[in-house]
Amino acid sequence: PDQPSLVVAVDGTSGSGKSSTSRGVADRLGLRYLDTGAMFRAITWWLLREGIDVRDVAAVAAAADRPRLASGTDPLEPTITIDGVDVSVEIRGEEVTAAVSPVSAVPEVRARLLDLQREVIGAGGIVVEGRDIGSVVWPQAEVKVYLSADPDARAIRRTAEQGGTDVATTQQSLLERDRIDSGRATAPLTMADGAVHVDSTHLTLDEVIETIVALAAQARP
Ligand code: DC
Repeated sequence: PDQPSLVVAVDGTSGSGKSSTSRGVADRLGLRYLDTGAMFRAITWWLLREGIDVRDVAAVAAAADRPRLASGTDPLEPTITIDGVDVSVEIRGEEVTAAVSPVSAVPEVRARLLDLQREVIGAGGIVVEGRDIGSVVWPQAEVKVYLSADPDARAIRRTAEQGGTDVATTQQSLLERDRIDSGRATAPLTMADGAVHVDSTHLTLDEVIETIVALAAQARP
């Protein structure tokens, strides 16, 4: 890559297109890719499998350090393993999606993952997507993007991705996660200082990728 130590932070609401965009940008710029949402989903998957009540904040906090997590950072084939098991597919299921926002509001979970995220980012050369990357995880990122889209656009895209038809239910679930993610006390979803707001409602995926690639070209790592 031209800018080997560059860090691009992409934050935004659920379904705003963060994953496709971030992977596309990483691929274009020859950078690694980290999906921090997948880390929260993997912990949630593990808690459910262990039979731990995800609404029991004390139990979740006490368990947060137990599983071993590893993220594969190839943008063309990102992976997430927990205790050596690849759960890349399982973490996209409905059960995990419904439970992940309350789990990610628990400060001990965030503290554990914050350390791991900073370890992976390391010397840079990476596109990182999440909710608090530009505000908390890596405020020194050379490029910070806050990606948004109208709720209707997000619900339609997400429903299509899942091969479903029920746009209204998908929208409800997206908005409920936004509410919890933006309202929590620790590291809520917010537009970071210095972030560029990109509204993807009327843009194609390629246009959003181009916009961010152009921002990266102007950045000085
Ligand atoms: O991006 P996603 O839908 O896979 O994220 C799943 C959940 O993880 C999301 O509802 C909030 C949480 N999350 C977070 O709190 N902080 C991050 N940096 C990334 C995700």
